[in-house]
Amino acid sequence: CGIVGYVGFRNATDVLIDGLRRLEYRGYDSAGVAVRTPVGLKVVKRSGKLSALEGALKEEHLEGSLGIGHTRWATHGAPTDPNAHPHTTEDGRIAVIHNGIIENYLELKEALLARGHRFRSETDSEVLAHLVEERYRGDLLQALREALKEVRGAYAVVVAHGAHEEIVAARTVSPLVVGLGEGENFLASDVPALLPYTRRVVFLHDGDLARITREGVEVIDLGGQPLKREVVEIDWSLEAAEKGGFPHYMLKEIYEQPWVLENTLGGRLREEEGDVDLGLALDPKEVARVHLIACGTAAYAGWYGKYLLEALARIPTEWDVASEYRYRDPVVDARTLAIAISQSGETIDTLEGIREARRKGARTLGVINAKGSSLTREVEDVLYIHAGPEIGVASTKAYTAMLAAMVLLAVRFGRARGTLSKEVARELLQEMRKLPRLVEEVLERRPLIAHIAEKYHQTQDFLFLGRHVQAPTAYEGALKLKEISYIHAEAYPAGEMKHGPIALIDERLPVVVLATKGPLYEKTLANIQEVRARGGRVIAIATEGDEELPKVAQDVVYLPEVHPLLAPIVSVVPLQLLAYEIAVLLGRDVDQPRNLAKSVTVE
Ligand code: G6P
Repeated sequence: CGIVGYVGFRNATDVLIDGLRRLEYRGYDSAGVAVRTPVGLKVVKRSGKLSALEGALKEEHLEGSLGIGHTRWATHGAPTDPNAHPHTTEDGRIAVIHNGIIENYLELKEALLARGHRFRSETDSEVLAHLVEERYRGDLLQALREALKEVRGAYAVVVAHGAHEEIVAARTVSPLVVGLGEGENFLASDVPALLPYTRRVVFLHDGDLARITREGVEVIDLGGQPLKREVVEIDWSLEAAEKGGFPHYMLKEIYEQPWVLENTLGGRLREEEGDVDLGLALDPKEVARVHLIACGTAAYAGWYGKYLLEALARIPTEWDVASEYRYRDPVVDARTLAIAISQSGETIDTLEGIREARRKGARTLGVINAKGSSLTREVEDVLYIHAGPEIGVASTKAYTAMLAAMVLLAVRFGRARGTLSKEVARELLQEMRKLPRLVEEVLERRPLIAHIAEKYHQTQDFLFLGRHVQAPTAYEGALKLKEISYIHAEAYPAGEMKHGPIALIDERLPVVVLATKGPLYEKTLANIQEVRARGGRVIAIATEGDEELPKVAQDVVYLPEVHPLLAPIVSVVPLQLLAYEIAVLLGRDVDQPRNLAKSVTVE
């Protein structure tokens, strides 16, 4: 979900809507604002996209220079008007917005009902409004602090009161960032909402409460003690956070990959020494095993990391999706390194996974895109991927940057542990240097991919196959297609296909095969023959100069030659484009696919 707050001199509604639009990627099944008008707080909220709220606001016209706004991604209660935020007390004096989940809300709600409170929504969030109301004695921040003592769970909560020219807020787990202006101040769940107004921000930490007025911000802890929080200067340009001329953020982000890779590698490669400089505090020699934890696209980057860490650094490596890791009681000791991978740094499953590893005594490392995110504070070491803001819900540039980061890690570990020679490392690093240029070449294949999309966009199902490091690529390709086109797509390690999914193959099923040159090329070719023999239609992702594949595949996308271990970084690009082109042909909402959220801050 997305939160915006404003107190200053501008028309609050305009600032809130502008900010919410920049946060819509965080969830978008309903939206609402509360503005402090001369006659008290006024709330307008609507189910559906932000445009529905904007329509309603045209009629209402809220006058005022203080307000809070929200876009929601439903957890408790369907996305209806009453369930949209803000939630108010019966007298309408207090309005509350909440991200996250209140675990003990049923208990709290029963007690509040027994004390005479009346509820208008089915959300867990509404209890906060009533709790604050009960504890209010003239100081809103203290009332919130008292209320939160009752609450168990995760929250970013923002409160406004008709009688106060201030916004108060608190967070645990769900992110909140304060933007500092002149005679005005801002609050948001993410930086892009603030960029049009200010670059000076304060990230609130877990357990922080804040009072935001026109003049400044005051931060305290749950015990009421004042806290000092650092002011951070954000170096993202506003333009970087906007579409830059492309019809969709996703396409823009796909095209940004060459420079993103430059950024990820930037200043870190030491070809001469056959090593990389990652500035890690951790000594790889002290690590006996690695646990990789992540969700969604980041999880596939982790799977790739497993192949590399084992191949180059010979470290036993386990890989899990975070929601499984957390509850499988993993065997961890002080020589285990848990690595969490996350674009947003806010995915709750990933955060909880890394906490679990830490509780069990593991060392921790984060491979992260978003600076100042919660995950950065949960881990001992951070390796930033420097992909810049990613807005499209379907992750693209963060994925390739994560893959590059995994190579960097594996090289560093391999060198430190003496399993990787200087010469082999140097060769790999020289190949990495070429990646931005190679990805640029692949982007030029877009017309061919658009043509393939045209041919297959009406099909109901897709199968993606790949082996070894290209297995994660196949899974990521299928995920992209599912996410934005809603076509059912399955991925399998190519060698496993014959043990089941082969039954699906007929003349209607397009099969995308990652068949780039490498040690397992021949094996993959054999798998393609198995598909052909059953009438399946093959779209092959191949290495330039391959003359075998056109004989067995209906369509071949040639990619420039690259080190087999690095092939996924180049090969995922045509799959991103294929998903994109198909989604556009089907008229899907590419940047905001149904049911998904960019950053899932609930379990
Ligand atoms: C959500 C998004 C996915 C993303 C995953 C992990 O489910 O829809 O696209 O890959 O979260 O996000 P993270 O920010 O942790 O990389």
